[in-house]
This record gives sequence, structure tokens and C-alpha cells, in this order.
Amino acid sequence: MSSLNRRKFLMLAGGGVVVAAGTSAGVFAATRTPARALEPWKRAGAPAYDDPRLRALSYAILAPNPHNRQPWTVALEGEDMIRIGFDDTRQLPHTDPFDRQLTIGMGCFIELMVQAAAQDGHRVDLDLFPAGTAPDSLTGAPVAMARFVPDAAVEPDPLFAHVLTRRSAKGSHDTDRPVPQAGLDAMTRVARHGTRVGGTVAPQEVAQWRELAANALRVEFETPRTYKESVDLFRIGKREINANPDGIELPGASLEVLNGLGLFTREAALDTSSFAYEQGLASVLGPVATSMGFVWSVTGDNSRPSQIGAGRDWVRINLAATAEGISFHPLSQALQEFAEMETLHAEVHERLAPGGGTVQMLARIGYGPAAGPTPRWPLESRLVKGPQS
Ligand SMILES: Cc1cc2nc3c(=O)[nH]c(=O)nc-3n(C[C@H](O)[C@H](O)[C@H](O)COP(=O)(O)O)c2cc1C
Repeated sequence: MSSLNRRKFLMLAGGGVVVAAGTSAGVFAATRTPARALEPWKRAGAPAYDDPRLRALSYAILAPNPHNRQPWTVALEGEDMIRIGFDDTRQLPHTDPFDRQLTIGMGCFIELMVQAAAQDGHRVDLDLFPAGTAPDSLTGAPVAMARFVPDAAVEPDPLFAHVLTRRSAKGSHDTDRPVPQAGLDAMTRVARHGTRVGGTVAPQEVAQWRELAANALRVEFETPRTYKESVDLFRIGKREINANPDGIELPGASLEVLNGLGLFTREAALDTSSFAYEQGLASVLGPVATSMGFVWSVTGDNSRPSQIGAGRDWVRINLAATAEGISFHPLSQALQEFAEMETLHAEVHERLAPGGGTVQMLARIGYGPAAGPTPRWPLESRLVKGPQS
């Protein structure tokens, strides 16, 4: 990037030009929220969903999931069954070559569906992977059959109260505000589906995890195919986000202006000598350096059902963090199964699973700025026809 472009970029990124242009720019900025992409957060539980299965699914689609791929499909079968499937066009072949993380996302989805059903007085009888599993990828076979059964004995889950305010909050933490041990304990005690959950808020350990997480982010950025996988999922500005409400959303008037000028585009971000690349890396490393604690989850084996259990527990931990007012930001890089990450992957496993097992998730925690909701495809767009419907 020429020095002129660099100056222009800095000025725009700082909002200088947009603000300097006065009222019309302010009006422009105020219209840049991708409202359509955020509608599913408002529609969750809406009276229009008069089938309890749809009502529960309208919350399930708000689940956290890797790169916001939303890999789920659902088919209503008969009066009380949902067939939950996996959309294999949403795979992440470079950063998630065995669909492990995507399966965890499916587990998060299932947990929110079960919690929402319980609010409505329904128990959900789950049959996971009724047609079997494959270790290398999630096939087109069903992930789960879920039968909704009215049950007066079913207990609502207190964590459900936080579903609409749960976030993956990617900002910097307040380094003057430690996370109390009680806050961490509130997260580690909510697992119910077979994961061992641990964490630390001890400054010396936190410093080691900050370094490891930053190194892993650098490896992902510096490996062209894994970096490109993220860049390909950039949705820059309102129009792109509304058109494809998934992936890595980059909203905001300043970015839209930079995009229009060709200064912040997918192509520019791929050029590792560009200012866009440099800024992108800095924007993830900066927050990681402020992390005030870490939380992780480990399973004894790495079977598909264990990955689903890990997902169910993970969203519970995220909801518990929300209940405590603690920012929660998953950082999966060091857990990813690609050759360039092998050394860091091994280091995490030596630290957290020395006796064997799979470290499924890692997140940084602290107190940070409130994050907004992320885009979702509407539930209706995820409905597919089941064999009998
Ligand atoms: C299995 C899994 C892995 C994730 N890994 C990362 C990650 O490495 N970095 C990150 O910023 N967010 C990560 N996330 C969070 C997702 O980006 C986030 O859930 C998604 O964008 C939707 O946003 P929300 O959780 O705020 O609703 C992960 C989530 C899951 C379930």
C-alpha cells in the first residue's frame, strides 16, 4: 500500500472522513446496521411459531458455531419428531478438516433446542447418529433424531434466561479488572454432558496462555490456506451481511467506505504485505494480549457423540459466563488439526490432557465491551423435507 493510501486508510479507519463529512455521514452511519440479518434474534419464540418444535428451533439457530457457518438443517417428521442434519456445503476443510468443531457447533444447537423445549414443557428424547458416524467427516446421515414429548416433570433450565444475550465477545478486556475465582467456578460447574471443564485466572498461567493463543493465531494467519478460509468468509458491510448472514461479519460505515475505495477488500486482506493484513492480525492479537483468564474443555475420547456432548456443555459454559457478566471469546486455533499447528496442538494436549483425551475448546475470559448479536439465516431457510414429509 502506498504511503498515501496508508494515510487515507488510517484516516478512514479512525472514522475521520466519515465524521468530518458531517450530518449526512452521520445519517449514513446510522443506517448501516444489517437489521435483516439480525432478525432471527427478535423472532425467537415468536407466537407465529405455533409448533413447539419450531419454537424450540427458533432459539437453537442462535447457537454459537465455528465461523458462524450454521451447518444445521432440520426436517419436521410426523407430529413430534425432528431430524437434525448437517449441511456439508458449510464445511471448513482447512481449519476443521475432520468437522470436529462443526460437530461441537451442532451440539450447541441441540442443547439450546432442548433447553427451549423444556421451557415449553417438553422433554426431548434424542437418538444421536442413528445411522452411525464416520471419523473423518460428518456425512449427510442424520446427526440426531429428536422426539418432543410433553412431560410435566421436565425442569426448565435457569441458563435459558441468557440465550438471547449470550455472545462470543471478541474485544479487549479491562486489565485492571481480574476475573474472580467464583466467576470461573460458575462456568466450570455447569457441564452436564461428559466434558471435563477447567480454567485459570492465575496471572502467571494466564500469561502463558496469552502467549500460546497469540502464537496459534499467528500460525493460522501465516498459513495461506487456513488464512484464506477465513478471508473467503468475510462479509463486508450491510449489503453483504444481509445477503449472506453467516461467516465473519465486518459491519460499519467506515469499513464500507474503505471497501468502496478498494482499500479494505478480500483481495487486499489476502496480500500479506498490505496494511489491511497487518491491521487484521493486530486486531486479533491486541485483544488476546489483554485476556484475564482462560477456560477449556476436554473429553475422554474424540467420538462424534463426545463432540456433541462437548458442544452441549460449551454453550452451557458460555451462558453461565453471560449470567456472570463475563466476556467469553473462544479461541480454537491451537486445537486445530492441520500440519502447521501440530507443535502447538501437542503443547495444549500436554498441558491439559497429559493422561490422554481431546482438548475440545479453549476461550479467553475477562470484562470487556458489550458485543452485539451476530447474523443468522432465518429458521425457515434451514428447513428441509424429511423422507416422510
Ligand atoms: C466450535 C467453535 C469454535 C469457535 N472458534 C472460534 C475462534 O477460534 N475464534 C473466534 O473468534 N470465535 C470462535 N467461535 C465463536 C464463533 O465465531 C461464534 O459462535 C459465531 O461467530 C456466532 O457468534 P455468537 O457466538 O456471538 O452468536 C467458535 C465457536 C464454536 C462453537
